[in-house]
Amino acid sequence: MAWALWFTGLPGSGKTALSKRTMNLLRRNGIRVKVLELDEIRRFVTPNPRYTDEERDIVYASLAYMAKLLTESGMNVIIDATANRRRYRDLARSIIPDFAEVFVRCPLELCMERERKRIAKFSPKGIYDRSAQPSATVPGVNVPYEEPLSPEIIIDSDRTDAFEGAEVVVKRLKEMFK
Ligand SMILES: Nc1ncnc2c1ncn2[C@@H]1O[C@H](COP(=O)(O)OP(=O)(O)OP(=O)(O)O)[C@@H](O)[C@H]1O
Ligand SMILES: [Mg+2]
Repeated sequence: MAWALWFTGLPGSGKTALSKRTMNLLRRNGIRVKVLELDEIRRFVTPNPRYTDEERDIVYASLAYMAKLLTESGMNVIIDATANRRRYRDLARSIIPDFAEVFVRCPLELCMERERKRIAKFSPKGIYDRSAQPSATVPGVNVPYEEPLSPEIIIDSDRTDAFEGAEVVVKRLKEMFK
């Protein structure tokens, strides 16, 4: 059975950077893996996202189901998505036997600074700026970001660069899923 790793953390914490480095390192090790980046999937599934609770429930359930199908087909999966509610990640855990969470931990102020400066391929621009708008639902600002209670892996991205982080993730992964 293939495994799924969910990279969770605040917007701008470094999930995409770490996912990409981890994917590259795994492939160099001859391990097949597919990255599901929610911001890329959203372009197709919710091209005009509202980021409401109702929409997030549907989007995250769909993401968990995609990951389940891939692992059942023998494909390892990295899920790159904030998933501000624990229940989104718990759903994936409940349907995927070999599942683990990678908590990309970073103080909110640094996430905001990084998000403002970065050039991202799929993430929307000005996420934290939009938190000032009425009815905004930015995780960590307007709505809670529920940290994982016992993540299998924690990467402190304020002290660990994405290359070092990827080394740690791959090492732990090899210990967990032999
Ligand atoms: N460990 C790190 N050290 C320093 N800078 C980093 C680190 N990880 C990511 N960054 C930089 O911080 C910025 C935000 O990272 P990234 O886009 O990967 O965040 P994200 O968690 O995927 O955000 P979103 O949820 O909005 O997609 C990028 O410019 C990235 O290069
Ligand atoms: Mg991202």
